[in-house]
Amino acid sequence: MATETRPIGVQDWATRSHPVFSALPPLSLYIHLPWCVRKCPYCDFNSHEARGDIPEDAYIDALIADLEGALPSIWGRKVISIFIGGGTPSLFSDAAIDRLLSEVRARVALLPDAEITLEANPGTFERARFAGYFAAGVNRLSLGIQSFSDAHLKALGRIHDADEARLAAESALMIFGNVNFDLMYALPDQTTADAARDAEEALAFAPPHLSFYHLTLEPNTLFHRYPPALPDDDTAADIEDTIHAALDAAGYEHYETSAHAKPGRACRHNLNYWRFGDYLGIGAGAHSKLSFPQRIVRQIRYKQPQQYLSQVTQRAPVLEETEVTRDDVGFEFMLNALRLTDGVPTSLFAERTGFPLSLIARDVDEATRRGLMEPDPLRLQPTARGRRFLNDLQTLFLRAKPDRPAAHANVIVTSASDRGR
Ligand SMILES: C[S@@+](CC[C@H](N)C(=O)[O-])C[C@H]1O[C@@H](n2cnc3c(N)ncnc32)[C@H](O)[C@@H]1O
Ligand code: SF4
Repeated sequence: MATETRPIGVQDWATRSHPVFSALPPLSLYIHLPWCVRKCPYCDFNSHEARGDIPEDAYIDALIADLEGALPSIWGRKVISIFIGGGTPSLFSDAAIDRLLSEVRARVALLPDAEITLEANPGTFERARFAGYFAAGVNRLSLGIQSFSDAHLKALGRIHDADEARLAAESALMIFGNVNFDLMYALPDQTTADAARDAEEALAFAPPHLSFYHLTLEPNTLFHRYPPALPDDDTAADIEDTIHAALDAAGYEHYETSAHAKPGRACRHNLNYWRFGDYLGIGAGAHSKLSFPQRIVRQIRYKQPQQYLSQVTQRAPVLEETEVTRDDVGFEFMLNALRLTDGVPTSLFAERTGFPLSLIARDVDEATRRGLMEPDPLRLQPTARGRRFLNDLQTLFLRAKPDRPAAHANVIVTSASDRGR
């Protein structure tokens, strides 16, 4: 007897071109606030020097209109975390953040225990706002310390000194408790002893979370055009080993390439990225990845703050929208999952991509054969060697296509976001 519909057979499952989800992935919300006092010479984020006053009210209005326009794409879904990133979100007043979060809460179903992080810089007047942010509902502060050395802060073009960083660290911990410090290493002229002192000083505050990023020279930055004297590869490796050993000894779990946390204090928002969860990004230049029953979509919003503001009034803030194809999804999933020290359960691949594991089985076998992935059929997990050569490992999952030559592959891998979006 002929039927109109039929269950998906083995053949369809293996060859179809669109994903099929049994349940949509967890959803996070990212909110981008794009202004900074001054552009740092190493920074490739969508951040813009604030010349004059920030149009605080107009920008919050735009974010709310942007969110309203995006609501149909997340109907009925619960939001597990919010990350207010930048730029320098702490340039916004606590009253503005309070209004923003109240308006968000009125429009989306936020889990009662949702993690709500705000990025703050350690300047004096930002610090005065910490209590107000906490009262507004922010329950996690991510503080851009970068280094506790005045000389290195200066070399990085930071506008705060080490004492301001210390004071900000103290008040953040007192008010929020739940705090992350961002630090960078392999800084201009940095020695292993300098980096060890930075790690030691950060650890003396015992924050629940520490992110230590290897300073990279990103295209389109001043450091890329005029490279400073950076430690050579051997010294950089030595610095990295020293920092990791100090953090391990202090009881931090090195759970992701650059992230270290006390047990149970991993960043839930970033974990959702690395586990290929969904995120709606609103604000200038924000990125989104959203799943629908039969497709996965990526969006980028207009980057220039003024253009974003005017596009929102025309109800068209999205600059670019692309569908994640069957050819790309394996690489995109592994690009994230392999950053996690423990990797992910094998079953997560089908759950989050909507495709069977057979899509990447050959590449997993190859990675395992080369000693870059653990031979555990229940986990997709990098080995210690795989973590050290993460770029090579991730590249194995890239499908070579005529329109994507190998050189482009490197760009994708090295510029992949590991610092929140
Ligand atoms: C969104 S950014 C900036 C947050 C905040 N505005 C600040 O500067 O403190 C988050 C973190 O990425 C890191 N970061 C930025 N540019 C980097 C680079 N070129 N290489 C490595 N880490 C970088 C810094 O540690 C920074 O705190
Ligand atoms: S590193 Fe932070 S403060 Fe510096 S320009 Fe980038 S976003 Fe702004």
